[in-house]
Amino acid sequence: MSSLFTDIISSKKKKIFAAPMADVTNPAFRALCAMHGADLTFTEMINADGLLNGDRYAEDRGFSADGKPYGVQISGSTAEGISKAACLLEDMFHPAVIDINMGCPSPRIVRSGCGASLLTKEGLPAQIVRETVGAVSTPVSVKMRILKNEDETIRLAESIQDAGAAAVTVHGRTRDMMYAGKSDTAVIRRVRETLSIPVIANGDVRDEASASRVFDETGCDTVMIGRAAIGNPFIFERISFFLTTGKIHPFISERLHASDTGPSETRQRVADFIKYCDLLDKNDLFGCVNIRAHAQWFTSGLADSGNIRLMINDLHKNVKIDINDRPALTEERKQLAAEIIAILEEHYGAP
Ligand SMILES: Cc1cc2nc3c(=O)[nH]c(=O)nc-3n(C[C@H](O)[C@H](O)[C@H](O)COP(=O)(O)O)c2cc1C
Repeated sequence: MSSLFTDIISSKKKKIFAAPMADVTNPAFRALCAMHGADLTFTEMINADGLLNGDRYAEDRGFSADGKPYGVQISGSTAEGISKAACLLEDMFHPAVIDINMGCPSPRIVRSGCGASLLTKEGLPAQIVRETVGAVSTPVSVKMRILKNEDETIRLAESIQDAGAAAVTVHGRTRDMMYAGKSDTAVIRRVRETLSIPVIANGDVRDEASASRVFDETGCDTVMIGRAAIGNPFIFERISFFLTTGKIHPFISERLHASDTGPSETRQRVADFIKYCDLLDKNDLFGCVNIRAHAQWFTSGLADSGNIRLMINDLHKNVKIDINDRPALTEERKQLAAEIIAILEEHYGAP
C-alpha cells in the first residue's frame, strides 16, 4: 500500500535520513536538518511506558515544527507497551513512519529491557513488530544493530520483515561495540540482499567520501546520519550536493585544512545556530533543551572554537534554576542563547 513513507523510501534517488538521537533531534533541530536536505528525520526515542503514564516528554519531542514528513521513534520492552504507545503517537502526531528502537546500547536502556536488549530475546522483535503493525495504520520500521553472528543477524532481520515491517535500518555495529570500531557494511549488504523491504544503512557517514563508500559497499540507496549531524545540520546539504553534482560543495572547497571550516561554512554554522534558537523559541522548546551543550556542538570545528567554548562556559555560570520551573528555565536559556549569539556575531561576524 502506498504511503508518504513508501513514496520517500522507494524514490529512485539516493536518500539521506537524519538518525534519531536522544537530546539532539528535537523538533527544531529536525526542521533545520530538513531545511538542509535531509529526506526524512526521526524524533528522539520516546519511551512507551513514560508516554502511557502521561509524562510530557512526547509532547515536547514528538511534534513537527515544519510540517514535513518525519518518523517518530518508540523505545519499549514489550509488544503490548510499544503497540499501545504507537497508537497514541499515531493519533497525536500523524508521523510518516513509526520506528521501533532495537539498537540503543546504553546500559540504562538495556537494563530496562529496551533498545538493543530486544535483539537477543528469541521471537520478541517479531512479536513487537507484528502487534504494532496490527495496531496502527502508519508504516512501522525497526532500527537495529547487527548481532555477533552474521547468520543470526540475517534471520532476525527476516523475522522483522515477515512480521510486517515496512523498512529496517541497520547500524553495522554490535551492541557491545557501542560507538567504537567500524560499522560493518558487509553485513548491512547481506541484510539488504536478503530482504525485499528497504534497508537503510547506518554508521560512520560523516562526509562525501564516507557517504559514497557506505552507498557502494552496502548497495543501499538510503543512508542515515547520526553523530556527524550533531551541531552541523549543513552535513545534509553538502552530501546531497555531492550526490547530485559529483562535486564538493563550494563551502567545503574553501577549507584550508580538512578539519577546519572555511569562511562561508562558518557563516552558515552561525546562521544555523541563530535559526535553531529562533525555532526553539517559536516552538516553546527552550525549557527542554540544554542550549549551552548545543552551542558547544554548533561551534565545534570553527576557528578559535576552544576560546569560544570557554566564553560560552563562563556565561550564567552560577545561575541555579529548579529543573521543574519551566517558565524560569525558558527565560534563562533564551537569555543565555542571546548572549551566545552576541559572542558568535562579534567573533565571526553577523551572517
Ligand atoms: C547522542 C546520541 C543519541 C542517540 N540516540 C538514539 C535514539 O534515541 N534512538 C536510536 O535509535 N539511536 C540513537 N542513537 C544512535 C544513532 O541513531 C546512530 O545509530 C549511531 O550514532 C550510528 O550512526 P553514526 O555513525 O552516523 O553516528 C544515538 C546516538 C547518539 C550519538
